[in-house]
Formats: sequence, structure tokens, C-alpha cells
Amino acid sequence: IAQENVFKIGLILPMTGQQASTGRQIEAAAKLYMAQNGDTVAGKKIQLIVKDDTSIPDVTKRLAQELVVNDKVNVLAGFGITPSALATAPIATQSKTPQVVMAAATSSITQASPYIVRTSFTLPQAAVSMADWAPKNGIKTVVTLVSDYGPGLDAEKYFKERFQFNGGQVPESLRVPLRGPDFAPFLQKVRDLKPDALFVFVPSGAGAAVMKQFLERGMDKAGIKLIGTGDVTDDDQLNDMGDGALGVVTAHHYSTDHPSALNAKFVEAFGKANSGLRPNFMAVGGYDGMRVIYEALRASKGQGGGDALLAAMKGQIFESPRGPMFIDAQTRDVVQNIYMRKVERKNGQLYNVEFAVIKDVKDPGKAK
Ligand code: DHB
Repeated sequence: IAQENVFKIGLILPMTGQQASTGRQIEAAAKLYMAQNGDTVAGKKIQLIVKDDTSIPDVTKRLAQELVVNDKVNVLAGFGITPSALATAPIATQSKTPQVVMAAATSSITQASPYIVRTSFTLPQAAVSMADWAPKNGIKTVVTLVSDYGPGLDAEKYFKERFQFNGGQVPESLRVPLRGPDFAPFLQKVRDLKPDALFVFVPSGAGAAVMKQFLERGMDKAGIKLIGTGDVTDDDQLNDMGDGALGVVTAHHYSTDHPSALNAKFVEAFGKANSGLRPNFMAVGGYDGMRVIYEALRASKGQGGGDALLAAMKGQIFESPRGPMFIDAQTRDVVQNIYMRKVERKNGQLYNVEFAVIKDVKDPGKAK
């Protein structure tokens, strides 16, 4: 096929290292989208080029540069963690290449380049929803525990501000390193402070370690509830967390258990193609990111460059496995429902079961 009839998507993901589950989920979801929707759009053959950045931002940046300059990709996509998304932003701007952020979730990412469009979520969306729910449900004092980088700082700030506004108290805010965290000394401190609840943000893949240590230290028996954004009860790991996870309430935009016909189909097809793997919130960000790219290519009839694609990404509105989804044309960020969920056992498996919905949540970080 002639090069001008190929449309290239450079998908940069952490395929190895601490964030590898994010890469595995998003790659699987992107491939599923292509298998279901074909690899030809507007007369162009779609080529997916997957690169492993090991979640090191300097590597992400170098790979993005090579993909743009050597491979001449039409779109950059993926971005497992915030530093990787931010490192790539200047390349997207200079080369006028749309950068579809499928995972990273710090509010400010979309402001780093006018070429960034996000299909994941923002930490303020989830944190504020939890801060509204908790005080109405008997939780008056909360200690926060977050990974010490962009999304964790967003989660801490937006949870704390709204929870205090709602009359709650936050006696202590703890931060753990992103790389190789040891939660034990922090959890000991929380035990001593004995708040009604511990609010946690850790990135996808780290939730099981928090849960294990929380239970080992008998925090639940000491009357401290675990709450957080849905990253901590990540569907990629939840089923292996054991009965200790039962009852944990989180706020998030996607649950494998989301009750819709579209999601049931998505979960089934994803499992079938990946020996039973459960799609988590990273997978849905990748799947919807591919949708945004395909529809932008279709709408621009395969003729435009980066600017035409970007224009066709803005304002897209569609049903996602997560529920209704909208790419705000002004902010290029996702507007979506946030669900309150509780871990329950269903058909022998642990799920985040949705019990309330906050509709059409815009990123609270953009209002400021
Ligand atoms: C980010 C990474 C995650 O794994 C997650 O669950 C949320 C946010 C990030 O780096 O932005």
C-alpha cells in the first residue's frame, strides 16, 4: 500500500515496569476496537505502532519524537502516567499532531498542548464526587494518602477542599513516592490518628498492595473505612483482593460491572480475546480513544492533517461502555458520569457495583 493511504497511530504505553498492567489493558482494548471496527477508515489503512516507554518520561518523549519524525504518525496516543503525557505535549504542539491521552488523569494535562484530547478521566472528577458522598454517609474525619505526583496531588487537593467545605475534617494528608512505595509506615500513622476513613489515590496496579497492608494492619477492624477514587479497587486486580475488599466504596467513571448492554458486550469480547482478562478503566480509555480517532478520520474524510483531525475530535459525543461520553470542544477534556460503587461479590467474583450516579461531570479543575 502506498504510504499516503496508510494512517498511523503511534501508541506509547508502559508495557513493562510498575505500570505494565496499564499498557497491557490499553493495547488489548485498542486491538479489540480495530478487530470490531475494521482496519480501513475513509479509504486509509490503519496501522497501530505500539512502543514501550517503561513509564519513564524521557523515554516517552524520545519515542514520540521518533514516531513523528521517522514514522510520520498521524496521531500520538496512549500515555500511561502524567509525566509521560506532559513530556510529549511540546512535540504534539510543534508537529501539530493530535495527542490522545487514554490513561493519564492529572487535570492540567489538557492545558499542556492545544493538540491534547483526553479519553480517560480527571482525578478532580472522581475526588469531588467522593467528597460529596462521604459526609452524607457518616464520614466526618478523613486522612488522605496519595501517590506524590500530579494525579495524587489533584486527588488530595480536590477531595480535601470539597470535604472541608461540606463540614468534614482532614487532620492529616500523607504522600507516598510513586516508585516502589512502602505503605506500612504511613498506614501505621493512620491507625494512630484513627479517622472515620482513609481516602486513597494510588495509580492503577498499586491498589492491591494498599489493600493488603490495610487489612494486615487491621485498619478495618479498628473501625477505619477505606474510600478513594476507583483506582484503588482497580478491576484488573480487584478479584484477587479477597473478602477484605468487600464494602469498600469508591468514586469512578468506569466499572467492569457497569450495567449496560454495550458494556456487557465489551466485557465479553475483551475477555474472549484476552484469555478471560477483565477490562478495567484503562481499557475503556483506550477503546474510546480509538473511537475518537476513527471518527475523526471518518469525519475529515481522510484528507486533513493534524488540525482537521483535532477539530473532528472536539465535541464528539457517543455511548461508551462506561456510559455517555462527551469530548468538551473548549477544554478537549472528557465530560462523563461519575459513579459511586461498592465492592460486592456477584456470581463468585468481586466487582465494583454502582449504586449512585453523578451525571455529566466536567473536570472541576477547569473551572478555576
Ligand atoms: C495516572 C496513572 C494511573 O495509573 C491512574 O490510575 C490515574 C492517573 C496518572 O499518572 O495520571
